[in-house]
Amino acid sequence: MAILFENGIFRLDAGETSYAMMIGEDRTLLHLYYGARLADSDLGYLLYLLPTASFSALRAELVRTGYSPDTLLQEFSCNGTGDFRASACQIRDADGHSATDLRYVSHRILPGKYALPGLPATYAEDERDAATLEITLEDPHTGLRAVLLYGVFEHLGAVTRAVRIENPSSRTVTVERVFSACLDLPRCDLDLVSLWGHWSCERNVARRPIDRGSQGVSSKRGASGHAENPFIALCSRNADETSGDVYAASFVYSGNFEASAEVDSYGMTRLLLGLETTDFAWTLEPGESFTAPEAVLVYSAEGFGGMSRTFHRLFRQHLVRGAWKTKRRPILVNNWEATYFDFDEEKLAAIARDAADLGIEMLVMDDGWFGARNDDTSSLGDWTVNEEKLRGGLAPLVRRVNEMGLKFGIWFEPEMISPVSRLCETHPEWVLGIPGRGKSIARSQYVLDMSRADVRDYLFDAMAAILSSANIEYVKWDFNRNLTEAGSLLLPPERGKEIFHRYVLGLYELLERLHTAFPELLLEGCSGGGGRFDPGMLYYTPQIWTSDNTDACERLFIQHGTSLVYPPSSISAHVSATPNHRTGRETPFVTRGVVAMGGAFGYELDLTKLTDEERALVREQVAFYRKYCGVVQNGDYYRLISPFEDRNLAAWSSVSEDRRTVIVSVVAYRFRYPRAEFLRLRGLDPEAVYVDRSSGARYRGSTLMRAGLNLTREFRDGESVRIVLEAEA
Ligand code: DGJ
Repeated sequence: MAILFENGIFRLDAGETSYAMMIGEDRTLLHLYYGARLADSDLGYLLYLLPTASFSALRAELVRTGYSPDTLLQEFSCNGTGDFRASACQIRDADGHSATDLRYVSHRILPGKYALPGLPATYAEDERDAATLEITLEDPHTGLRAVLLYGVFEHLGAVTRAVRIENPSSRTVTVERVFSACLDLPRCDLDLVSLWGHWSCERNVARRPIDRGSQGVSSKRGASGHAENPFIALCSRNADETSGDVYAASFVYSGNFEASAEVDSYGMTRLLLGLETTDFAWTLEPGESFTAPEAVLVYSAEGFGGMSRTFHRLFRQHLVRGAWKTKRRPILVNNWEATYFDFDEEKLAAIARDAADLGIEMLVMDDGWFGARNDDTSSLGDWTVNEEKLRGGLAPLVRRVNEMGLKFGIWFEPEMISPVSRLCETHPEWVLGIPGRGKSIARSQYVLDMSRADVRDYLFDAMAAILSSANIEYVKWDFNRNLTEAGSLLLPPERGKEIFHRYVLGLYELLERLHTAFPELLLEGCSGGGGRFDPGMLYYTPQIWTSDNTDACERLFIQHGTSLVYPPSSISAHVSATPNHRTGRETPFVTRGVVAMGGAFGYELDLTKLTDEERALVREQVAFYRKYCGVVQNGDYYRLISPFEDRNLAAWSSVSEDRRTVIVSVVAYRFRYPRAEFLRLRGLDPEAVYVDRSSGARYRGSTLMRAGLNLTREFRDGESVRIVLEAEA
C-alpha cells in the first residue's frame, strides 16, 4: 500500500521515500516528514512543536495547547490567519478580505494516478503503479475548498502534488495566489540549487546557501524561459552527485512560475513552487473551480545523481506519451545551420540524398518554407507553402525525400505572427496586446492570443492542412519570443490577470488536438533553443531542442545542467559544422558526435560539404547510435565529471537497464596536461566482468566502481574518449 491512513496520520511511501502529514487538533493539515523511507506509522511525535513565540497568534481552539500556525509545519499554508510565512494560497473573498483558514474535512484514497483537466501531468498506464490521495480542506468562514491531490509512484521516489480550489459559495471570489507544492522542512542547513541561463547558454547550475528570509527563482515571461527553469532543489550542505539529502521540485508547466525557499526565525524552511504570483489572479464565480498545475517532488538520499535518475524514469515512463515514447527516435538532419533561410527544393534534395547515403533517417525542413519568408521579418502566421522556393509545393518534395528512404519533418512557429503577414492584415485583433498601448516587438514578431478559441481553430486547421498534404512525420514546434503587453480583447477587465495562464492553457489545448489528430507524429519542442524546456512541454513533445548553441564544448555545460532534471531521450543534440557558427570554436568531428550522442541524436550541417573522411565518420556514428541508442534513451544516466567543477573535463555514462552495457564518454573542453585520472564508474553490477570492446581489457564491475578506469594521459583541446563496456555472458 503506497498510502496509509491511521490515527489521523497519512504516510505516503514512494520508492525509497516517505512523506507524512497529520490532521491537527484544530483540523489544520500539518506536515510531519519528508525523506528516506520509514517503517513506522505512529509518527505523531514528529509534530514540530515549538513553544509559541511571544507574538504568535493562537486560534481559539488551540489556546489550551499553545500551538500556533506561526510555528508549525503546514501542509498547505494559509494567509492572514496566524502563519506569517509566505502562504501557499490566498483568496480574496466577496467582501474584499484575503484571509484564508483551511481545515481538513475528508479524504479519499484511490487506485491509479489523478489526471488534471486541460493540463499536462504525470500518469500511470497501469493503475498499480500509482495511487492517489485526495484531501479536502474547507474554510469555515467562506465555505471555499482546497482539494489537495497527491500522486504516489510506488516504485519511484516521486510524489506529485496539485490543488483544486472550489467555490461552492454563492458569491464571486478571486484566487490571488495558489502554489501547487508547499513543503515545510524542520531544518535550514541547506543549499538552494537552480538552473539559470540565457539564449544560447541554458541551464547552468547555480548553488548557494540559503539564509534567513526568502530566496528563489521565477519567470514572468509567459514561458518557463531561458533565464530560469521551473525547478528548485534544497540539499544538505555536503550533498554531491552520490550522497547527501536532496529535496527537489519540478513544475509540470510551461508558463510563468515561482519557486522560493523561505527560512523563518525558528530555523524552518518553506519551499513553495507554483504559478507566479504578481501577474496572476483568477476569478471564481459560484460553483466554479480552478486547478493549479502539477508539481513533482523528489527526495534523494543519494545526492543529485539519485535525484536525476528518479526524474528521468518518471518523465520517461510516466510523462512522455504517444507513439514515440519508447521507440527509437529517427536520426535526423536539420537544414537550419546548413542553409538558414536560403534554400529551395534542390538544395534540400541534395542534403537528403547525402543523408540517405550516410544512413541518416529523416530530413527536417526548418524555418523559411512558408508565406514570403526569406528572413525573420515576415510571414509568421501564413502557413502556406512558398512555391517560389518549393516549386510544385510540399507533396512532390516529401515524396522525393521518402523515395530516397528518408522520413520528412517540418518546422512551425504556431504561436507567433509577423506584423508583415497576411494574417496580421486580416486579423489584427488576434495579436496579444493591450488596447491603446504600443506593442513591443522581438525578432520582428508579435505573439498570438492563444487564449482565443478562434486563433486556436485557425492554427489547428492551417497545421492540419499542411500535415495532411504530404507524409510528414515530425514537427519542430518553435517559439522565439516572450510575452509582453499581455492582454486579450476577449477578457473583461476583472479577468485581466488571467491572461498568462489562459495563454498556456490555450497552447496545451492546441498541442493536445494535434496529438489526437496525428497520433504518429513526433513533436520536438523548441524555443530559440531551450527557452521552454520544461516538463509541461515534455508531455506533448518527447524531445526538445536543447540550445541554439551547437558548439560541442559549450553543449557539455548545457547538457550537464539539463540532465539534472530531464532524461537524455528528451535532450535534442546535433553535430554541426566547424568552426561553430555561434562560437567560432573548432572541435573534432568525433567529439561533436560523442557529445550529440548524449541525447536525441542528429545532424545540423550541410552534408554535401563533408570531406570523405567526415563522411566515413558519419557512417560510424550512425551505426554506433543505431546499436546503442536504447542504452542512451532508456538507460540510467550518471554524471561522472562536471564541467562546472573540473577545469578541463566532462564525463558521463549511460548504463543499460540490465546493467550489462555501459557507454562512458569523456571530453576535454580544453587542453589538459597529463595528470593522474581514475574515473570511477557508477551503477554497474559489482560481480559482472565487463570487457572494453575496443581494447579487450577485462574488469570486474566492483573494480571499475572502486578503482576506476585509468584515464591518466594528456587530452588535446576538444579531444574525446568513448569506451563501451559489455558484461560477459
Ligand atoms: C530558433 C531555433 O532554435 C532554431 O533551431 C531555428 O529553428 C530558428 N529558430 C529558426 O528561426
